[in-house]
Amino acid sequence: MSDEFIMQMRPLFGAEEKAALADYMEEDGFLTEFKRTEAFESAIAEFTGAAHCIVVNNGTISLTLAALAVGVAAGDEVIVPNYTMIASPNSVQMFGAKPVFVDVEAETLCMDISAAEAAITPRTKAIMLVCANGRAPKAGIAAFQALCVKHGITLIEDSAQALGSFYADGTHMGLKGAVGSFSFSMPKIISTGQGGALVTNDDAVAARLRRLKDFGRAGGGNDLHDTIGYNFKFTEMQAVIGQEQMKKLPARIERKRAIYRRYQAGLAGVDGLQLFKQDITNTVPWFYDSLSEDRSALQAHLKAANIGTRVMYPPINQQVAYQVIGHHPVSELVGEKGLWLPSAVQLTDADVDRITAAIRGFYGS
Ligand SMILES: Cc1ncc(COP(=O)(O)O)c(C=O)c1O
Repeated sequence: MSDEFIMQMRPLFGAEEKAALADYMEEDGFLTEFKRTEAFESAIAEFTGAAHCIVVNNGTISLTLAALAVGVAAGDEVIVPNYTMIASPNSVQMFGAKPVFVDVEAETLCMDISAAEAAITPRTKAIMLVCANGRAPKAGIAAFQALCVKHGITLIEDSAQALGSFYADGTHMGLKGAVGSFSFSMPKIISTGQGGALVTNDDAVAARLRRLKDFGRAGGGNDLHDTIGYNFKFTEMQAVIGQEQMKKLPARIERKRAIYRRYQAGLAGVDGLQLFKQDITNTVPWFYDSLSEDRSALQAHLKAANIGTRVMYPPINQQVAYQVIGHHPVSELVGEKGLWLPSAVQLTDADVDRITAAIRGFYGS
């Protein structure tokens, strides 16, 4: 059995991306977003079932634009889970809105709906629900929609980790609120190096997003501006790679599910490490997340066996960047014990067996 280093995550690009890029460079040299970008947007719209897809340069600015497009402004409050990638709150902090942190559900790590309701104030404008690791909240997405209607606030879905994951009724994640956001950064199920996409079924939101990312242009490539906008455009090189990656998405979804099943079987009966549950019929795990006893020692043991892991996100309210007083038991527990196991789609069955054997060795099971 190979004992080569297994990275916790690495992207996968192949000969197809390389050839497609070379072909594009032969056929056109503008590079800035154009037809390939439109085709990539169409591929995402078709896959997710969205009426509109707008790509931007990353999955953080996409959230900023999502919030601006639904009318969040400086001074407004946006409810955000205390367990998420820090990009979620930073995306609204960036223009002076205030992220308000609430705890997450122990089973799914998605926002806790009771905590969210308790945090609503007259200044709350939106809830940013994060589909943690492609999971849906146990409370049900309909309950979040109803909560937003009840309080006259907007639902934004940060579905950065959820491309390929569907709610139980068959709707792709990202399409239950006013707008949903994806990321194509290096560790995601498909990557364009950097990149983000917004999906919406709301024509007016889509039109605002297109203006926001393109200097507020009224459309048609002219220099007439009736709103303020910025430059968060994509490039054709990213789109060319993205088109090839999208072709590989269905196979990746199946492989990620198969790896999850193999981890589950290999770790059955190990008391020290609990994999988070995942509905692998409707959703796809982005990373293999766990709560691990004696986390640092386990990491060191795995590192000595040439196996990389990654500590899961610390509670955001405790990050030096925020330092907000509050007690959020689930996100604190994840901060203490959360560990991502190797999660790349190119893991072989033998790799997974090597990892689970090393974990069993550590816990003596
Ligand atoms: C939940 C979540 N939101 C936002 C982002 C930010 O995306 P990007 O790295 O493309 O800016 C990430 C990236 O990991 C994420 O996991």
